Amino acid sequence: MQEKDTLQRIVSHCKEYGFIFPSSEIYDNLGAVYDYGPFGAELKNHIKEYWWKSMVQMNENIVGIDAAIFMHPTTWKASGHVDGFMDPLIDNKDSKKRYRADVLLEEKIDKLKEKGEKELAKKGIDLSSSEDDKVKASRDYAKGLALEAAYKSAAEAGDLKRYKELIEAYEIVCEVSGSKNWTDVRQFNLMFGTKLGSLEETSTELYLRPETAQGIFVNFLNVQKTARMKIPFGIAQIGKAFRNEIVARQFVFRMREFEQMEMQFFVRPGTELEWFAKWKEIRMKWHLALGTPQDNLRFHVHEKLAHYANAAEDIQFKFPIGYKELEGIHSRTDFDLTEHQKYSGKKLQYFDSELNQNYVPYVIETSIGLDRMFLRVISESLKEEIVPDTGETRVVLSLPPALAPIKVAVLPLLKKDGLPEKARAIVDKLKFVGRTFYEEKDAIGKRYRRMDAIGTPFCITVDHQTLEDNTVTIRERDTMAQERIHIDQIEQLVAAKVDMNVLLRKAMA
Ligand code: GAP
Repeated sequence: MQEKDTLQRIVSHCKEYGFIFPSSEIYDNLGAVYDYGPFGAELKNHIKEYWWKSMVQMNENIVGIDAAIFMHPTTWKASGHVDGFMDPLIDNKDSKKRYRADVLLEEKIDKLKEKGEKELAKKGIDLSSSEDDKVKASRDYAKGLALEAAYKSAAEAGDLKRYKELIEAYEIVCEVSGSKNWTDVRQFNLMFGTKLGSLEETSTELYLRPETAQGIFVNFLNVQKTARMKIPFGIAQIGKAFRNEIVARQFVFRMREFEQMEMQFFVRPGTELEWFAKWKEIRMKWHLALGTPQDNLRFHVHEKLAHYANAAEDIQFKFPIGYKELEGIHSRTDFDLTEHQKYSGKKLQYFDSELNQNYVPYVIETSIGLDRMFLRVISESLKEEIVPDTGETRVVLSLPPALAPIKVAVLPLLKKDGLPEKARAIVDKLKFVGRTFYEEKDAIGKRYRRMDAIGTPFCITVDHQTLEDNTVTIRERDTMAQERIHIDQIEQLVAAKVDMNVLLRKAMA
């Protein structure tokens, strides 16, 4: 199946089964904004719980906060977002479609190199041979490399005129109009502006925060003092962030309103690269504990570091649209705290009693998009398979049980003979284990399929034998294996599988 089709299948599944809906759908949607439905909201909450517990509950030296979305406007001057949080955009004059100029160029480079590699493979040339040999053997490969070099130097110089020249020289066309009729490239700030106050003349210009991290930095001393934290320590936060993304066509991968789970870890200057390595390891373990094959995750080293960073890597996941950034791990030096000191005139220093010295701490940041994490979990869990006995196709969402929106479904075989009452009594007991679903409509096979598609790890069927001997059938989602057990065993059996601690123990081992 094509990558585009796989993403489309995920989008349809999420809508059909109540995970994600396009925002304001009855008014024809709002671009790149999404609403989470009943099962999506549950799954999202479990992902948050997995992250929050592993960060805050399991680490004595990390505390959590919940800062406001609105912040003093000077925050964004100090952080560099007012002057530097820009994307280069370009419009096609015929279709009026807007693109990110850097993305157009990067896609063209990838296409040329891929085409070139296919040519090389046909000619029997090993991809590990020297660049010189590959350039000689494939025109497309050579063109790809030449464009890459030219693009890199234009990006370093911030030369937007050169971007346009390259787009024209390499004959990049608009996917809608097919034309090469482009506007000039210009910078576009991604922050959403709004106003605070009711009167136009006295109102203050504000921004919706484009990252949650700054709420942590400006509270550094408040938190350190009130929670009596000693360096090294971290501050964690989960919250909404807003970016006016130009290219936003990849479902919840790139949204205009999204959620981040960020943690800033404050360390002694000079120890930051050791901590950077530690946090890379910790975060990779957290991802792998979900049972993902190692091949689906990889580190990607930033070639060009942001001006404030002295190391930066992404954890990339193999999404249906290819390997893409899922989480960023950045060594941000003392940049943010120093800038906030400068702009606010307030000291943001730490007194290290062991060194008998004041300093501005260095920071390691781990930053993951909750919605991207959601897409990752869905994309690696959604499967279509043939049922061996019947030859039917079934759609199953093999979610890690701790993340599943519904933990167990209780299904009376018939809607009569006292079976619904018996089933309801079981639901009442099981709801203490986790979200329990009761359903009596439709044939049992159809009900199983619906639960498979939502990712429910267990289905309990109540039948006439249950009335006689208090036993039920328990069906496991992935194997479809069924077993007869006593009602008194259900709670313990389900709880042992869906417990978040099972996952946390793996992540923290
Ligand atoms: N504080 C650092 C920071 O915000 P970032 O790389 O811009 O760094 C961190 O964002 C993470 O937030 C990304 O790795 C990604 O998972 C998520 N993210 C960023 N932009 C997003 C968007 N438009 N939609 C969904 N998630 C996004």
